Amino acid sequence: MRYPTVTEFIEAKRDRGTHNADEIREFILGYSRGEIPDYQASAWLMAVYMNGLSDEETFALTEAMVESGATLDLSAIPGLKLDKHSTGGVGDKVTLAVVPILAAAGIPIAKMSGRGLGFTGGTIDKLESIPGFRVSLSQEEIVDAVQRTGACICAQTGDLVPADRKLYALRDVTGTVESIPLIAASIMSKKIAASADVILIDVKVGRGAFMKTLPQARELAGLLVRIGEAHGRIVHAVLTAMDVPLGRMIGNWLEVEEAAALLRPDPENPPDGRLRDEVAHIASKGLELTNKAKEHSVSDLIESGAAFRKLVEIVEAQGGDPAVFDTGRPARKSVPARAKRSGFVTSIDAEALGRAAMHLGAGRLRKDDPVDPLAGVAILAPIGSEVRAQMALAYLRHDGSRDAGPIVDAVQNAFVIADEPAPLPPLILGEIESKSL
Ligand code: URA
Repeated sequence: MRYPTVTEFIEAKRDRGTHNADEIREFILGYSRGEIPDYQASAWLMAVYMNGLSDEETFALTEAMVESGATLDLSAIPGLKLDKHSTGGVGDKVTLAVVPILAAAGIPIAKMSGRGLGFTGGTIDKLESIPGFRVSLSQEEIVDAVQRTGACICAQTGDLVPADRKLYALRDVTGTVESIPLIAASIMSKKIAASADVILIDVKVGRGAFMKTLPQARELAGLLVRIGEAHGRIVHAVLTAMDVPLGRMIGNWLEVEEAAALLRPDPENPPDGRLRDEVAHIASKGLELTNKAKEHSVSDLIESGAAFRKLVEIVEAQGGDPAVFDTGRPARKSVPARAKRSGFVTSIDAEALGRAAMHLGAGRLRKDDPVDPLAGVAILAPIGSEVRAQMALAYLRHDGSRDAGPIVDAVQNAFVIADEPAPLPPLILGEIESKSL
């Protein structure tokens, strides 16, 4: 058999043809080794963006991406290993609560996370707001941490799926990020290389997420599940609403603090109801899929203090100082955004608050910008609240080095205040799971 030339390969997808698995493998490994230039890979990515990939092509792409680098060897750790992934949202600190809850139930978790992308936050930036916390671990350190504490959360090691790193950077600058098969292969190649048996995926839907509509999110979730099945993994996708921010805090330390507080219930200061419901839903699924639901419940794991103690253990094992959960970390400046009228908060624009937090320093405007761990937005009037004119809706936290005025306006405008309360929008919008369950 003769492989097509790179040009013929690109032309085939341009003309809506199909590739076989060997052709995709040659192309991806060739690009990953630096033998195929960016301009040819860009042309192919655009052809895929326009004309799509079949399931078989997407499976082959995922496999070739996994083959481009190392895989994490978790064979020394007994039991079903779990991974949890979110496609990204605003105020999404679910991983920070779910990992300690499930690890407290004895489920091994070696979780590799990412940094913030655009107006969405990233778990690694959040964890770095804990003084001393190390996110860069070697393969040996990851296995050792999971053996000692049951879980670790770290940055992706450099040798895992190098093809994704190159392709993602290229997609970012060639207008080819928002392609469902390319997103699915990118996510699943990293999950498969990280060797989990059970993969829980939170597909965020709405104006504060990558997938803006439910049909798009369903298509992505179905494809993620089918790729996992093709690799013998159990995948469960939950579709959750991301029109309003999740919980009350947006920003790196603020979100760590909110997740830690959820694991350490205080009757005087109950957690945000929607955040608590989403964490409970996803963590319960994790218990069910790893056959731990008969022995444990999410509420017992939280109320007994086991989940919070596990969080402290994970933080200590990665060099962080858990005393910060008691002392807190105040930002230098805290500026209120006030209600322009009285009424009921019926909506809060997640993307607008995500962008506000980013401009306050919680996210990056350019790829290599540092983030301010303490910056962000603390919501005082969540959806459903009754407010009076001039009452503080939110506080903007920052280091005092920027003009917060325009950001205050943007935050005020992100709150919709009406005469009558509106029903709370649904949180869980659907679920798709492996047929092999
Ligand atoms: N997250 C990923 O890991 N890859 C994508 O392509 C999009 C979101």
